[in-house]
Amino acid sequence: MKGKILVTGGTGFIGSHTAVELINEGYEVVIIDDLSNSTTDVLDGIEKITGTKPSFHQFNICDEHQLKAFFEKEKDIDAIIHFAASKAVGESVEKPILYYRNNIGSLVNLLEEMNNVGVKHMVFSSSCTVYGQPEKLPVTEQTPVQPAESPYGNTKQICEEILQDTTKAHGNLNTIALRYFNPVGAHETAHIGELPNGVPANLVPFITQTAAGLREQISVFGSDYNTPDGTAIRDYIHVVDLAKAHVIAVSRMVEGKNKANYECFNIGTGTGYSVLETVKKFEEVNGVNLNYKIVDRRPGDIEQIYADTTYANEELGWKAELGLEEMMRSAWKWQLRVVGKD
Ligand code: WQD
Repeated sequence: MKGKILVTGGTGFIGSHTAVELINEGYEVVIIDDLSNSTTDVLDGIEKITGTKPSFHQFNICDEHQLKAFFEKEKDIDAIIHFAASKAVGESVEKPILYYRNNIGSLVNLLEEMNNVGVKHMVFSSSCTVYGQPEKLPVTEQTPVQPAESPYGNTKQICEEILQDTTKAHGNLNTIALRYFNPVGAHETAHIGELPNGVPANLVPFITQTAAGLREQISVFGSDYNTPDGTAIRDYIHVVDLAKAHVIAVSRMVEGKNKANYECFNIGTGTGYSVLETVKKFEEVNGVNLNYKIVDRRPGDIEQIYADTTYANEELGWKAELGLEEMMRSAWKWQLRVVGKD
């Protein structure tokens, strides 16, 4: 084995795809998840793809007693990839305390335990939401962080600062923050994918559920933006490309190749697509017609953002390989599997 990696939030959308890529790369994977937004069926999906079922511990890492007990049992962890967090922007506006407690409390507990037991490396799940609405596009890692538009975005900014302060204080701690753009799609086998609870807040799961007849119509939030077709632009990235970036980042630290004890990388494709372009690409690739209507803008949305990925390309040696077509194709194949129509 190349090493033993703890994946917190490992039965979630990005966590499960990362577990697959870690196993494929020869790592042993241990998952902690409280199953607040996923089920253990995901472990079966990981096993169907890789032939290996990761060991699984169900608890919330805000519970420091359970976290201590975990580290007493699971020895020799080489690194942690920390996904476990609440991530719904809209919900964070309604329930800020839940977001600050969960997203910040879990990171603080983990860092404390890492220091106690001597785990030296962490990859942290950050977000392009830290940039707010950038003045200049594409955004680089030097683009100034803007005041967060939501408590969710604020927790990501605060967590990045906690990582920077902690690595400065503890010389032997290495951390890499990956700022995701918009993760979409599913593993090509359709054994794992995105399973949003309730009505999807995000565009692509809403598209696939509308195409599957689970939703009446897609509401396109705003067509009066200063963009070519008036709808907002995002940098959609295939979840498998994103997962592979985590494997490269954790290997970079485990193999001692990181050049500072806090590093941060934009993980996007560098290409932005509008909402209407994304809807039309889904229709074209999957041969379906989507029912949509233009409505008012969604409060808190930014107009456009897409990444300058030069630093990740050159420094990490990582580049997104899958385009919007494969994102839309895999998302649809997964949705058909979920509704039993595949
Ligand atoms: C994309 C575009 C909407 C739904 C997400 C996560 C955030 C972060 C970045 C990880 C926007 C439009 C959406 C719909 C629509 N990820 N839209 N109709 O808001 O960019 O942020 O990715 O940290 O956590 O929330 O993604 O998919 O919600 O929206 O028109 O029914 O689609 O206005 O322009 P967003 P999204």
